[in-house]
Amino acid sequence: MGHVAVIVFLSQCLTSVQVLTAVRMPARISAFLIIYLGALVTNISASGIDDSEESLSYFVNNKTKTVLKRYKNVTKDSINLEDLIVKNSALGMLMNKAEGLLQMRLLLWADVIGNIALIENQFSWYLENRQNDSNMLVEYAAWLVSHDHGAVAALLEEMKRLVSPLFKKQGLFNLALDFLEEDSDVCVLQMSPHQLIYDMYNTIALTEIKGYAMMQFSWMLLRIYGRGNFTQEASLTRQRYAERTGQTATAARAALSRANRKLYRCDPQEYTKDTYAEVTRLLQGYVENEVDMNSDGTCKENCAFYTLAERHDCYKEQFCAKQAACNGRIIDCQYIDSDMWVCPASPKSQRRYEWIQYENGRTLGKADSSCRQGTTKVDSWWRWTLTHCSYCFCLCEDSEIESERFFSLREALADIDNNKVVTGMRLVKLGKVFHLQVYEGALAERGFVESSTEVAVKAFDPMHVGVTQGVDYHTLTYERRAIDLDELDAPAGHVLTGARFRMIGAHLHFEIRATPFNYTTGRLAPEKSQWISNDNTEGSHMPRTRVKLYKPDIPTRKQTTLHINSQHDQYIEFTHSDFDADAAQSTVPFIDIQPVVPTKALNTKGASLLSGAGIYHRGGRGSGGFLGVKILTYDYSKHVKAEPPPSEFVDEAETTEFVPIIN
Ligand SMILES: *[C@@H]1O[C@H](CO)[C@@H](O)[C@H](O)[C@H]1NC(C)=O
Ligand SMILES: *[C@@H]1O[C@H](CO)[C@@H](O)[C@H](O)[C@H]1NC(C)=O
Ligand SMILES: *[C@@H]1O[C@H](CO)[C@@H](O)[C@H](O)[C@H]1NC(C)=O
Ligand SMILES: *[C@@H]1O[C@H](CO)[C@@H](O)[C@H](O)[C@H]1NC(C)=O
Ligand SMILES: *[C@@H]1O[C@H](CO)[C@@H](O)[C@H](O)[C@H]1NC(C)=O
Repeated sequence: MGHVAVIVFLSQCLTSVQVLTAVRMPARISAFLIIYLGALVTNISASGIDDSEESLSYFVNNKTKTVLKRYKNVTKDSINLEDLIVKNSALGMLMNKAEGLLQMRLLLWADVIGNIALIENQFSWYLENRQNDSNMLVEYAAWLVSHDHGAVAALLEEMKRLVSPLFKKQGLFNLALDFLEEDSDVCVLQMSPHQLIYDMYNTIALTEIKGYAMMQFSWMLLRIYGRGNFTQEASLTRQRYAERTGQTATAARAALSRANRKLYRCDPQEYTKDTYAEVTRLLQGYVENEVDMNSDGTCKENCAFYTLAERHDCYKEQFCAKQAACNGRIIDCQYIDSDMWVCPASPKSQRRYEWIQYENGRTLGKADSSCRQGTTKVDSWWRWTLTHCSYCFCLCEDSEIESERFFSLREALADIDNNKVVTGMRLVKLGKVFHLQVYEGALAERGFVESSTEVAVKAFDPMHVGVTQGVDYHTLTYERRAIDLDELDAPAGHVLTGARFRMIGAHLHFEIRATPFNYTTGRLAPEKSQWISNDNTEGSHMPRTRVKLYKPDIPTRKQTTLHINSQHDQYIEFTHSDFDADAAQSTVPFIDIQPVVPTKALNTKGASLLSGAGIYHRGGRGSGGFLGVKILTYDYSKHVKAEPPPSEFVDEAETTEFVPIIN
């Protein structure tokens, strides 16, 4: 009688193992269960609990082989419940920062999981050593299913109460979410709150499965060793499992549907060439005398007359001979004062001047430092015609050779023909050109992404023949220097598979590519891909609004902490840094080039599934700020559902799979 039960139970375990191997999402979880259940099977067959049933060992050995082979194919190490908590760096950070009720709940939760892990280790030790004393094993099994408050059933009930208490607002997920919404530096987690909740849910689901498997296995052992029938107890175990996982899934679904899916990078500890890059010499502060800005060499006008000019000559080798000429357009000149001291910047720098000090006391830039190149006295002069040849302070839109103000319009794509999706994104500067760069990974079943690699960007030189303005790249100019700030999400059932910049009017415009996929199989439908954008233009009924910069200094001079200050459907214009703060020598905003690739807690090799992306501005009063990319992680809420446990595992005819709730 007992053998039948064993076989049916094992066959159901094995069916579930196969289900789990197909369920690739948390690969290590399924890998664990394969080895875990595989080990149980091996132990039983080797021990020969009852050798009279020949088919038992045949059946078991046959299955074990394939199960173990599969296990080895997936991963080399088995999963450890405690690792799920200890090795989840985002969770670790949350535990460190949390206070009050959240901290208490998190600690209790970690305790429960630690205790289940302990029982599991203990149980497998008794299984391994059962030949010496099978009585110990049976005693342990009896304790494991007991009502002791330290035994599995009580622990699992406690975990359920933490997640789904009477007062729902105080559930673990909700408390964690409230904390993360409040905490401004959520980006240090490098995981969206949505991902963190989903990971926590998967950890709970795995703990439930392990607890359930241990308990059912114990009832079975007790029955085989003649301690009783236990049909009702086993049935109750299953029923409680179904109730708990149902409630946990409901709580998780509710939390996930309100959890923030955005992820972006924060200001780094230190700004380096690896964290930001600059557009250069788009509109740079430039000192030029009126006499050189007209073809006749006259001084009949004033500075303000020169709204759009160019340099024609260098009159009598004055200051014009001591500085690099502006070889592009000279824009928006103004008169500040007649005479000044100019501190030139190093010739290697993209700046022209460190600072300029006028005799009237006004200083452009920070004149506190000593001037390494030596200051130059620059004086306007009077002509005998009584015209004043003034030095003006203008903006130079330098020639394309001298400046770095190009954006690639080429598409950055994941290889959808090989079923790959975008797993991360960044902006990168190669040569003089800014590009969008994506990371890609192969999509598998149930939202699992195998791994993440960088898709190399092909650099190009805008000056080369065959490379075309408006097709391959866009050049920022005085008239065309706006960039749209949008946050784009793929429609339901689609994932992110690419991004690009495109010109809409005078705006550089961000777009994403979305591709539909089958969650169960993980297959993309490449031919159904679509580009998604927010085509709002200036002529529309509700035009985009502009993000304004207030006296923007160089953002790497840390005056204030920077926060995201743009919203969807806005734009910003690249411009010069503030006159007084920086002598208008830099182009702002700077570009954040840190990669935005979410970390994956449950599987270090795996990557995250994304559904959207955007361009944002991070700034503050008195700072030019940074432009950066953000991403939206995939919304798993609609895939979280509790699956019923097997209705009756002692019934041979019963074929219901032991389907776990891990999605
Ligand atoms: C055992 O495995 C072999 C192939 O490896 C297969 O042909 C056979 O049907 C299996 N037997 C059972 C009972 O699963
Ligand atoms: C191992 O994995 C590879 C690809 O991931 C697959 O082609 C192969 O069939 C697998 N082998 C087994 C024994 O599952
Ligand atoms: C069980 O017996 C084997 C040999 O019969 C021995 O090597 C092993 O240490 C024993 N285990 C325990 C826990 O006594
Ligand atoms: C257990 O007992 C119930 C009735 O109490 C009976 O219907 C069932 O067949 C028994 N199961 C086993 C495996 O002995
Ligand atoms: C996904 O694929 C499975 C297996 O091929 C199929 O049964 C299911 O209908 C597909 N789902 C959708 C939405 O196409």
